[in-house]
Amino acid sequence: MSKGLFITFEGPEAGGKSTQIALLKEFLEENSKDVVMTREPGGTAAGEVIRNLLQHDKAGENMVGEAETLLFEASRSQLVAEVIRPALSEGKVVISDRFADSTVAYQGYGRGFGVEAIGQLNDFATGGLKPDITFLLDISVEDGFKRIDDRNAANNTSKDRLESEAVEFHERLRDGFLEMAANEPERFVVIDAKGTIEEIYEEIRDCVNMRL
Ligand SMILES: Nc1ncnc2c1ncn2[C@@H]1O[C@H](COP(=O)(O)OP(=O)(O)O)[C@@H](O)[C@H]1O
Ligand SMILES: [Mg+2]
Repeated sequence: MSKGLFITFEGPEAGGKSTQIALLKEFLEENSKDVVMTREPGGTAAGEVIRNLLQHDKAGENMVGEAETLLFEASRSQLVAEVIRPALSEGKVVISDRFADSTVAYQGYGRGFGVEAIGQLNDFATGGLKPDITFLLDISVEDGFKRIDDRNAANNTSKDRLESEAVEFHERLRDGFLEMAANEPERFVVIDAKGTIEEIYEEIRDCVNMRL
């Protein structure tokens, strides 16, 4: 049975994940690849309900960090079972907008729950599934905030629950992402998100091309 390619995009908010995923999907499809795109939290019917609770629903306002963490894992386990594993076993390319590394960064480093504890929860939720390639779009907290504000102004939206966390929280999670990348250099590709959209796209495209 052919095995597909599992690609994830990670990093602080507004690093350009969605922008680059759209470009990569187009490139792969032009090259006759079967692409499945998904996002976290969400990507399944149950997962999208969980996403709303985590991001915007008033019911989520007083949620403790432990509940938040487990909801991310609940969404992830459903996504792996229902979408990601079946697509990979059919030989497809799966691109996920965030995955298990985000929980290590946001809850492990950001909330201080610890990398090891979150790693165990991730393994439980994913059955140990790891991405083949993880693009880390690295952006400074200051530049990220600027882009979030611009994007919210353009879309007439407001910051979601995690975007509204303090600067120190965002510093911790950015540093956490970089530490994770340093610990797994064979999986992570760190990209400076300050480059132009075209420059970053070319870097990502070349890297994926080599793995196809
Ligand atoms: N390389 C880039 N340089 C400048 N602005 C960018 C770049 N990539 C994306 N943007 C803009 O920054 C904002 C955040 O990008 P987005 O792709 O939504 O990031 P993410 O999905 O990581 O949150 C958007 O308004 C987007 O148009
Ligand atoms: Mg996005």
